Amino acid sequence: MATDFVYLDNNATTPLAPEVCHAINAACVSAFANPSSSSILGKAAKRLIIQSRAEIAQMINADAFDIVFTSGGTEANNWVVYAAVRYYYSKFPEADGLKIPLPHIVTSVVEHDAMIEPINKLVEEGKVKASFVPIDPISNSIAVESVLNVLRKETVLVSIMLSNNETGTIFPVAQIMNAVKSNLKEHGIVLCHTDAAQSIGKMKVDVRELNVDYLTVVGHKFYGPRIGALYVNKPGEKTPLPPLFFGGNQERGFRSGTENTPMIVGLGAAARLVNENLTQYVSHMYHMKSLLINKLKEVFGSEKSSCLHFNNPNVADRNQCLINTVNVSFYDPEWNDFTASAILNNMTKLIASAGAACHSQLDSFSVTKPSRVLIDSGVPEHLALRSIRLSVGRQTTAEDIEEAAMQLYTAVCAAAHTKI
Ligand SMILES: Cc1ncc(COP(=O)(O)O)c(C=O)c1O
Repeated sequence: MATDFVYLDNNATTPLAPEVCHAINAACVSAFANPSSSSILGKAAKRLIIQSRAEIAQMINADAFDIVFTSGGTEANNWVVYAAVRYYYSKFPEADGLKIPLPHIVTSVVEHDAMIEPINKLVEEGKVKASFVPIDPISNSIAVESVLNVLRKETVLVSIMLSNNETGTIFPVAQIMNAVKSNLKEHGIVLCHTDAAQSIGKMKVDVRELNVDYLTVVGHKFYGPRIGALYVNKPGEKTPLPPLFFGGNQERGFRSGTENTPMIVGLGAAARLVNENLTQYVSHMYHMKSLLINKLKEVFGSEKSSCLHFNNPNVADRNQCLINTVNVSFYDPEWNDFTASAILNNMTKLIASAGAACHSQLDSFSVTKPSRVLIDSGVPEHLALRSIRLSVGRQTTAEDIEEAAMQLYTAVCAAAHTKI
């Protein structure tokens, strides 16, 4: 990448692909008309939205009608929680003053805040009960049994992310959802959701194989614009989707508001790139990640006494860890004390992050608390406080990897006041 910086923060956000930029620009000019208008311009804009929906559907092996556009991943995840809870209360209305048991949601401890927070809010308000499934310390993953063990007859939603944004761990969502669906308790209305924000464009994502009713798509994680989509298996028929917004009945009444045509077109263009080039993207990113791991070992030492700690024990296994993600800590008990912010602040060219960069409190680069995801993934606190997430992308080159390792070396030495 011929720029003044090395960008290894692709899990936070990816740059727009040139093809996506082009499609957005063109749509701004040619498809500005209101897609609900029956004029030829309105119809042209509508056609672009239809094409985009089809590309996104193809990317996850869904039907086009099962895709609803959203503002992003946060909206999609919040919507799923809302839909499931509303559905539960509509199925079991309180009758004659008889209280019904609270609906129950199952999720994991390592979900993104866009899933954890809407659930926590409802728990605080006394409207739902929730179980947060832990990470199994042996497999470093979520055990199917741990999910089955917490199912109750009031369980209405099981939401397990497909891969984690901080550690890169890929979870066995298909096995979990298959097992959940064949173990339905009494009322049998468990809805299954996966947040695939970090997986799309990095691995095959197939809603049928995953056996989910909802799946979250986030454009800016796969070189698209900052909007998203929610896959819903036959929305309103097979799977509940009560609207959050009311108004002009766009998106078949599921989400009112004039469609953001240029961004929807951009999301479609990003999906088309994945449809056409996934194998090539995956092999490039995996190659870059392998170079990065080797280079870090070379620079920081791979011996037992090394100060280099990989925070995902399965980091090199492409079936268990995202092909672009390396979460690493630099620590030696002899060193001057410092946290990840000291490393990030000592880097002039390398862009990376500590924890989930999308958490706005980290904007100041001041890491004072370890990431809950790392702690819940079994990373000891002293390493979690010093963790840097490096996420390579389609645009990463071998020169970038060399430069990144050198930048890290200089920054770690400066932070630790030592020579390694
Ligand atoms: C796994 C995951 N889910 C959801 C989101 C939320 O997406 P957004 O902030 O674009 O709404 C993110 C963003 O970082 C993410 O990594």
